[in-house]
Amino acid sequence: MLSEKLLNHLNAQVNFEIYSSYAYLSMAAYCESLDLSGFANFFKVQCQEELFHAMKFYDYIFQKNGVVVLEQIEKPNSNFENISDVFETGYEHEQLVTSRLYRIADIATEEKEHATISLLNWFINEQVEEENTFNTILKKIKRAENNPAALYMLDDELGARVYVAPTTTNA
Ligand SMILES: [Fe+2]
Ligand SMILES: [Fe+2]
Repeated sequence: MLSEKLLNHLNAQVNFEIYSSYAYLSMAAYCESLDLSGFANFFKVQCQEELFHAMKFYDYIFQKNGVVVLEQIEKPNSNFENISDVFETGYEHEQLVTSRLYRIADIATEEKEHATISLLNWFINEQVEEENTFNTILKKIKRAENNPAALYMLDDELGARVYVAPTTTNA
């Protein structure tokens, strides 16, 4: 049984992961509009990953006898200055996600809610990779600035990304 406080935070996170998915789809659409289909592919995969995250919290809430409540999802940003702005926004977003997860983990720790701590550890480990992915691509984009050939090579590289649903059901 989850406390009301923890349940509220987990519910908010279901909604926030759906918002993340929506924000990345908006970034995919922006890349598509620039004919950068590889970058768009990267964000479409990212969009699927975030939906998987939302469902992982969703399933957990019901497993713990709680009820998921869906809220209105905020309109995502669609005005970007350039491709580097998109990745800066994404990188900042992932850092915000990490800080939200830390906050929920703090509450779960205060309440000695070990199953929730275990679930959050999966997400917190995942965030190390998420932040690093965005930061690494951002650095590559900055190096490719004023060099269209390098940017298109990066577009090709990101076009090869394929969504793979995590097999772990650790929760
Ligand atoms: Fe996520
Ligand atoms: Fe993420």
